[in-house]
Amino acid sequence: MITKCLFPAAGYGTRFLPATKAMPKEMLPIVNKPLIQYGVQEALDAGCHTMSIVTGRGKRSIEDHFDISYELEHQIQGTDKESQLEEIRSIIKKCTFSYTRQNEMKGLGHAILTGETLIGKEAFAVILADDLCFNPNGKSVLAQMMDIYQKYQCSIIAIEEVDFEEVDKYGIMQGEEIEEGIYRVFDMIEKPNKDQAPSNLAIIGRYILTPDIFDILRVTKPGKKGEIQITDALLQQAKMGKVIAYKFKGKRYDCGSIGGFIKATNDFYQSLYS
Ligand code: UTP
Repeated sequence: MITKCLFPAAGYGTRFLPATKAMPKEMLPIVNKPLIQYGVQEALDAGCHTMSIVTGRGKRSIEDHFDISYELEHQIQGTDKESQLEEIRSIIKKCTFSYTRQNEMKGLGHAILTGETLIGKEAFAVILADDLCFNPNGKSVLAQMMDIYQKYQCSIIAIEEVDFEEVDKYGIMQGEEIEEGIYRVFDMIEKPNKDQAPSNLAIIGRYILTPDIFDILRVTKPGKKGEIQITDALLQQAKMGKVIAYKFKGKRYDCGSIGGFIKATNDFYQSLYS
């Protein structure tokens, strides 16, 4: 049973400058909720109640968001605005939040290793909040992955087919399809050129990881851009046949990019208000 979800949220968010100069990318709102709140709700829907967040300098508003704001609560008590806080209140009531800081931004792999202190020796989920996943007619993407984990008991990565022109933005996997939409992973390569890519199956921001990943990350050398890549660590598990890739049901928006953010905003607005 997986109960903890790690949110690496220390990145600089340079694609969104200047908006992210003083504000965390994870606090950018899609309609009226910050990205990280959607992520936390997804984790909760998948059965996780402990949210472990890796933050960095300038990310304090994330902690404040998941805390009670007494002044504000007092001000709007008894008014019709109170209902707008219902969802976040319910999240705060149901979850425990813990935080640690990544002092140097040495990549996603390093951010996950920084989270070890919050996770310990158990399997855990990872959500990159800027990848917003949406499956209105069924289970959330992380909940779907939990089902796969129950069966295979190893690390699970969520994948999506992308255009070959886009493979250089993602970790790309190669593997054998063992059930419809489920692959045993053999190989993975971070941000390959179009001609080096073994497939167009891209790893997106949802993972379930077994705790041996921490020992692997500890000895993983920096890869592209001098960053410690989670893809390189996962490759070590894959070589032992211990990584399953899952083509999830639903939609993903890359809200770390301006185009994806605008698309998500339009789609969510349409689905909520029309
Ligand atoms: P990104 O590749 O989107 O990088 O990180 P970024 O810095 O957030 O954004 P850009 O590319 O500069 O616009 C993927 C995820 O990994 C986290 C980010 O917060 C994001 O959730 N991350 C990345 C860390 O927590 N620490 C890092 O050192 C790097």
